[in-house]
Amino acid sequence: MKKRVLFVCLGNICRSPLAHGILESMVREAGLSHLIEVDSAGTASYHLGELADLRSRKVAEKHGIRLTHRARVFAPRDLHAFDYILAMDCQNQKDILKHVDGDCLATIQLMRSYDPVNQNEDVPDPYYGDQSAFEEVFEMLQRSCAALLEEIKLELHR
Ligand code: 4NP
Repeated sequence: MKKRVLFVCLGNICRSPLAHGILESMVREAGLSHLIEVDSAGTASYHLGELADLRSRKVAEKHGIRLTHRARVFAPRDLHAFDYILAMDCQNQKDILKHVDGDCLATIQLMRSYDPVNQNEDVPDPYYGDQSAFEEVFEMLQRSCAALLEEIKLELHR
């Protein structure tokens, strides 16, 4: 059975599209694109339809990843369409949980519950930071995505 992963942040232009691109690239390299689908969304609509922030695209490109996603808003129906929903920070997680009803399929977790370093901390919002804030976010997302992919692979074998 296919596994579907959704990354969620506030604007869907900095953190979640970066996580989206990183995991998608890892999935492709693992030859699992037919089994794992990746998407991202934001809890706010400020940047609807926009490409990822230039600074996210820059750090991704440095690592050979092209970000082509256009920002979209998280919708309550996403709770029924995804197996894993990963919130970048506690506020994103609270905003998602507001929509949970009885038959929600997804597990809603903090992205850094998968980070072996400083587990369960927020992925800090780099929007008002400089390029180095985006580099740091990339590192934590890369570590978290690697652990998440291992977990999904186990789940695929169950
Ligand atoms: P993101 O970052 O949630 O990682 O996409 C932000 C992007 C835009 C804004 C805030 C955070 N904003 O206030 O416009």
